[in-house]
Amino acid sequence: MSKILVTGGTGYIGSHTVVELQEAGYTPVIIDDLSNSNKGVLTQIEAITGTIPEFYEFDLCDEQKVVSFVENNPDITGLIHFAASKAVGESVEEPLKYYRNNFFSLINLLNAFKNRNINFVFSSSCTVYGQPTKLPVTESAPVQKAESPYGNTKQVAEEILSDTANAFKNYQIIALRYFNPVGAHKSAMIGELPIGVPQNLVPFITQTAIGKRAKITVFGDDYDTPDGSAVRDYIHVVDLAKAHVAAIKRMEEKKSKANYEVFNIGTGNGFSVLEIIKAFETSTGVKLNYEIGPRRAGDIEKVWGDVSKSASELGWKATLDLEEMMRSAWAWEVYLKEKNPFI
Ligand code: UD1
Repeated sequence: MSKILVTGGTGYIGSHTVVELQEAGYTPVIIDDLSNSNKGVLTQIEAITGTIPEFYEFDLCDEQKVVSFVENNPDITGLIHFAASKAVGESVEEPLKYYRNNFFSLINLLNAFKNRNINFVFSSSCTVYGQPTKLPVTESAPVQKAESPYGNTKQVAEEILSDTANAFKNYQIIALRYFNPVGAHKSAMIGELPIGVPQNLVPFITQTAIGKRAKITVFGDDYDTPDGSAVRDYIHVVDLAKAHVAAIKRMEEKKSKANYEVFNIGTGNGFSVLEIIKAFETSTGVKLNYEIGPRRAGDIEKVWGDVSKSASELGWKATLDLEEMMRSAWAWEVYLKEKNPFI
């Protein structure tokens, strides 16, 4: 079966995608510099699927290393590019780190593969829409000025990919615009491993529930939403991982309508922060200590995706509900507490 390069394959979404690729019969090969992930993830993947993925540790900003990797691996037919810096707040403090990491790695990969027939899947984000005027937001909604250097790297990367696809017809490219990925694999052996204090809602919830944090603050209850807290489209990470397999298949089967395409990857449903807290409590039976606080700077009020294009063209739909998102996120946090394999 085809060999697929997965950059950032030991990270949160990357590791779940490696598992889904293996289960679909592909041979994923990982490049990761371990700057925000742990090598122990490889043995966790092996415990789930029975196969340890091939792994290379280096920084994709190193052009020579990328070029020699590509030369030494002529049988790679697909590339899923997760490796990137992704903390919104940090990107405001250290914009050059973000522009360097996210652009150099992308350009090095695109250059190194530009004479090959490659199916390329890129991790984009619903952050490109900003606050949409019309909901659910479709792929044709205007891209709005980014709120952060991180968001800007996603927008400009989409332009780089579109221009590359235009110039090099041997490239087939799909950018997936993720909504909010949460949850963990049903085995509870892989999941999100935030370094330091989590910035995202669900890891903060599970760390509060397990006692690592005293309480969680709901950032704002005065938004124009049914209960006043902000609304997002939360998507189970395993469903999200499967969307990457569907994207690779679409390109392999030559079903793409153009050699650069964009798809929303969400459930199509919006849930508020307070609804997420309630869903966590009812799915796990664990009570959460929470308080209402001020809005977080840079947050948008509400966004959820129109996912009809993914359903009709990619043949992909989310299947796991909010209860499973919360239950699996919690099982992973409990697993880390009881038998953390990464320390
Ligand atoms: C954030 C990024 C987005 C990125 C995504 C990746 C910002 C502004 N946006 O999305 O660009 O693609 O992560 O995962 O950072 N919340 C609380 N209390 C908390 C934490 C979060 O109330 O302790 C609320 C937030 O205000 C928001 C919702 O929970 O309304 C989801 O927050 P988060 O998980 O950080 O995701 P986004 O901000 O949507």
